Amino acid sequence: MSNIRLIDTHSHIDMIEQISIDEVLDNASANDVEKVILPCAYPKDIDRIIDITEKYDNVFAYLGVHPSEARDWDDSICEKIENHVSSGKKVVGIGEIGLDYYWDKSFNDIQKDVFIKQISLANKLNLPVNIHDREAHKDTFDIIQANNKNSTVIMHCFSGSVEFARECIKAGHYIALGGVVTFKNAIKMKEVAADIPLDRLLLETDAPYLTPVPYRGKENQPAYVRFVAEEIAKIRGMSLEELAGITTQNAERIFGF
Ligand code: NI
Repeated sequence: MSNIRLIDTHSHIDMIEQISIDEVLDNASANDVEKVILPCAYPKDIDRIIDITEKYDNVFAYLGVHPSEARDWDDSICEKIENHVSSGKKVVGIGEIGLDYYWDKSFNDIQKDVFIKQISLANKLNLPVNIHDREAHKDTFDIIQANNKNSTVIMHCFSGSVEFARECIKAGHYIALGGVVTFKNAIKMKEVAADIPLDRLLLETDAPYLTPVPYRGKENQPAYVRFVAEEIAKIRGMSLEELAGITTQNAERIFGF
C-alpha cells in the first residue's frame, strides 16, 4: 500500500472533456489523490457543482463567481450560496474569486466590487477564499488586506515573484502551486516553490488547464497533481511522500475534511 496522500485543491473536473468524471476520479485514486476541490466560475454552475459533490464522496466545492464573469453577478447569488452552506452541502470555501486583468480590463471596477462582496460573504460564513489573481497582484493583495476579516486566504495558481510570495506569507496567506512549476522555463515558480514555508503550501492542477510535464499540451486532470508534488519535492530535496503528506495536512487543517 502506498503512503502517499495527495489533494488537488483546485480542479475543474466538470470541464474535462476527453474522459468522464468517473474516469477522472478513478485515475485520481490510482495516483493517491484522495480529495478534489471543484471551484465554481459561472453563476449558472452553482447548483450543478453541488450536484457533483453530492454524487462523489471525495469531491468538495468552492462556490463563487470568477472575476471574468463579474458582469453576471447579482446579489441573490449570496443568498443561494448561503443556502447551500446552511443546508450542509460540501462547500469548503468561496471561489474562485479575485481579479483578472489579463483577458479584459474594461470592467475592473465591477470585478473589484464583486470581489469585495464575495470576501464579505466568506467572512460571514467563516469560509476560506480561493483567490484568482491574474496580472493583478497589487490590487488583489490590497483588496484582501482592506476587506478580509477572518477568512483563510489561498492564492490559487500563484503566479507572482518570490517577493510577492513572501508578502502573501507575511499576511498569513497560503500559496497553491500547480503544473506551471514543472515547466522547464518556469524559473520564477521554481524559486517560489523553494522559498515558501511548507506549512503554507497547497497543491492543485487547475485542470483541465496548465497540464504539468510530462503531459504538457494535453488535457489536465487531478491525477497529475502527483507530477506537481514530485517536482516540488525534488526542488526541496525531500521525498514525494513527505511533501505530499505535509501539503495534504495543510489542506485538511484549512478545510476541516
Ligand atoms: Ni480555476
